[in-house]
Amino acid sequence: MTQSARRIFARIAGTGSYLPDKVLSNDDLAKTIDTSDEWIRTRTGIRERRVAADGQTTSDLAFEAGRRALEAAGVTASDVQLLIVGTTTPDLIFPSTACLVQHKLGANGCMAFDVNAACSGFMYALAIADQFIRAGNVRTALVIGAETLTRMLDWSDRGTCVLFGDGAGAVVLKADDETGIISTHMHADGAHKELLWNPVGVSAGFRPEQHNAGVRVLMSGNEVFKVAVKTLDAVVEEALAANDLPRSAIDWLIPHQANLRIIQATAKRLEMPMERVIVTVDRHGNTSSGSVPLALDEAVRSGKVQRGQLLLLEAFGGGFTWGSALLRY
Ligand code: UT7
Repeated sequence: MTQSARRIFARIAGTGSYLPDKVLSNDDLAKTIDTSDEWIRTRTGIRERRVAADGQTTSDLAFEAGRRALEAAGVTASDVQLLIVGTTTPDLIFPSTACLVQHKLGANGCMAFDVNAACSGFMYALAIADQFIRAGNVRTALVIGAETLTRMLDWSDRGTCVLFGDGAGAVVLKADDETGIISTHMHADGAHKELLWNPVGVSAGFRPEQHNAGVRVLMSGNEVFKVAVKTLDAVVEEALAANDLPRSAIDWLIPHQANLRIIQATAKRLEMPMERVIVTVDRHGNTSSGSVPLALDEAVRSGKVQRGQLLLLEAFGGGFTWGSALLRY
């Protein structure tokens, strides 16, 4: 048996996603704040976003996305040995959203936990699940990115409330002899925490008035934009260099969907035409942890992404956190 034949890889066996029914358009927002469809579209690429219904929680969205991914993979909930939810908007402080989703799916008994890495939550969760599978400890993992970001927006702050939406995406990873996830590269830098954060918390105290903030997302958009472009340039180069691959080897870029201009900058860096970049930000807005798996699922179900193709996934978010995953689908 050759060395490569003995190696275990984590392969995507199925994808799924879920978006709440309610659509909020730019024109809807322009009725309540000083903004316009034109400004939002030209600065961000966003036309509309989804908003969870009253009472609909992150675990509800995650459950639907997870159920669809399991169905697509042809595995049952009882096959799942590891369930990770990337989220920064958990239903509760505890138990974790992953535990709530596990019970809804009927996957009781498997290891289940959340990862909070803001918009990079799904990427971090994917990297962790990949390690468990490569190490031979788990054969089937369900990895979900799910958010209800609209629950913590200040709807009078036009600099943030126009950007975010709710949604969830999921992948089932299975152990396989064939290459799946090739490499993951995750990073964080807490030095810039105040550029994008929600400064209300348990240990820091439930005292929203202290920050004159309420429970809401605060962002220095312009500064985040500049760091995001630079950092994503570096992380995609890192993935290519680590695997000694030319830019032309990538079939599809599946980026975090924060701003079309950031996506275009990364595509340019990779010398990729926009036809080979999956874009959902126009319809989803920024769904944080949900964004990459939502885009992936849409690309798979539309038939764009085909088996055997090389995909580069990347994300950047609060923390700061960022990362990439190179995989053969
Ligand atoms: O997923 C996590 C990572 N997050 C991101 O990557 C977000 C990164 N940042 C961005 O996407 C962009 O910085 C924004 C879309 C948030 C803002 O775009 P920008 O081109 O950086 O605009 P800006 O913040 O420099 O603001 C330009 C002007 C300002 O007016 P003045 O000061 O020039 O008069 C803002 O007050 O646009 C104004 N503005 C708006 N006008 C209409 C800000 N938000 C709005 C709005 N509608 N919604």
